[in-house]
Amino acid sequence: MRCISCGATPDSAGQDFRCTACGDLLEFFFPGWTFDSPAFDPAALKSLWLNRRTSHGALDQSGVWRFRELLPHIPEEHVITLREGNTPLYHLPQCARATGVENLHAKHQGMNPTASFKDTGMTFAASSARQGKFRWVACASTGNTSASMAAYAARGNMHSLVLIPEGKISWGKLSQSLDYGALTCQLRTDFDGCVRILNDLVRQKPVCLLNSVNPYRIEGQKTAAIELLEQLAWAPPDHIIVPGGNLGNSSAIGKALLEMRELKLISRLPKLSIIQAQGANPFYRCVREFGGKKLEPMTADTLATAIRIGNPASWKKALRVLQATGGEVEQVTEVEIAAAKAEIGADGIGCEPASAVTLAGLKKLRKSGFVKAGDAVVLILTGHLLKDPDFTIKFHQGELFAGTPAEIAATHAKSLQRAPVVLDADLGAVIAALDAAEKDSEIQT
Ligand code: F0G
Repeated sequence: MRCISCGATPDSAGQDFRCTACGDLLEFFFPGWTFDSPAFDPAALKSLWLNRRTSHGALDQSGVWRFRELLPHIPEEHVITLREGNTPLYHLPQCARATGVENLHAKHQGMNPTASFKDTGMTFAASSARQGKFRWVACASTGNTSASMAAYAARGNMHSLVLIPEGKISWGKLSQSLDYGALTCQLRTDFDGCVRILNDLVRQKPVCLLNSVNPYRIEGQKTAAIELLEQLAWAPPDHIIVPGGNLGNSSAIGKALLEMRELKLISRLPKLSIIQAQGANPFYRCVREFGGKKLEPMTADTLATAIRIGNPASWKKALRVLQATGGEVEQVTEVEIAAAKAEIGADGIGCEPASAVTLAGLKKLRKSGFVKAGDAVVLILTGHLLKDPDFTIKFHQGELFAGTPAEIAATHAKSLQRAPVVLDADLGAVIAALDAAEKDSEIQT
């Protein structure tokens, strides 16, 4: 491991995974990697990974461990896997039409075992915790990390402690960590407050911290990008667009892209762009207002609760990959997020609100000319539609923005709303509803 700021290379990490010399984050680096070594021959690696898809071995069936040559070594006896990864890449025809980008795909990380992208990092970090013989693992979370951690801890026979902001995570996510048996503490604070408590806790108690400051998480999450490139027959898209919260995911995907280029697995870098909600935009402001020189923490607020984060831990890592790949940063409004979510749903895919910032951001990047009509674009959808049904139902019933300052802006999204129709149990009433819907759809097409 190496410190991202001072370059120190400690033999082992402290409980908080921070550099003991300067306090910044650590990352894995691989001094032995050279593409001219037979172990890293690009063609041989690609065919090895592909062949593993037909194997019945637990490691080979995982979309994370299948790529283990590009990850730090963890002996198989410690591995906790739920066959994560292996997520689909979907074309989005209606969103393509709406954005004018024909070659538009979504890599749906919500199709992981606990329905978010967190599983790819969690299988790896939880396995390293088991290797380290921890009885307890812990995280602060906006809901997905906690769901994922609780599942992997249970599978690995470890106890898990979850710190979440009270009232600010979706029921779907909360219910997961309860069912997977975590000690779930709803703290009267926000995500950033939960992180502060957790950092103090790990200095006093022998628990393994599984937030994305843990560099094992980042290594596992790299595999989403490796798998994506494999799905694209190793032809890099022009753009990859990700939501930005604590900024671990963008850092991981960017790290994978840079490493794949270094190993000549790909010949050029896609531009990695990061989108934030306007009410939770510290990284957007860091880049746009402060030229990347500092990040000013803020009190975050957005209905996309997964990314309701005001002091992202991995901002320096994310900045580095943004600059190295030539990506952009954008912010999107609450109404833009809700509309984009319904549009992704209307393509028969669906996602949770935080994931929809990618499509909303793409629209802005098209407008600014950063993304061209002929470009190949991949959106990373981070969580499943069913993670936050409250948001979806309120949107379709027209209640999401009622009585808020966004109410007027929300009228633009009205045509996307599909409220349920309550009828008497009467055939005639259902036929009338069907005929009216058919008429509507004729008008719209
Ligand atoms: N999308 C979803 C669905 C998320 O749950 C998160 C983060 C993000 C995007 C942002 O990713 O933090 O790596 O930039 N969720 C964390 C959690 C913070 O606790 O579940 P990031």
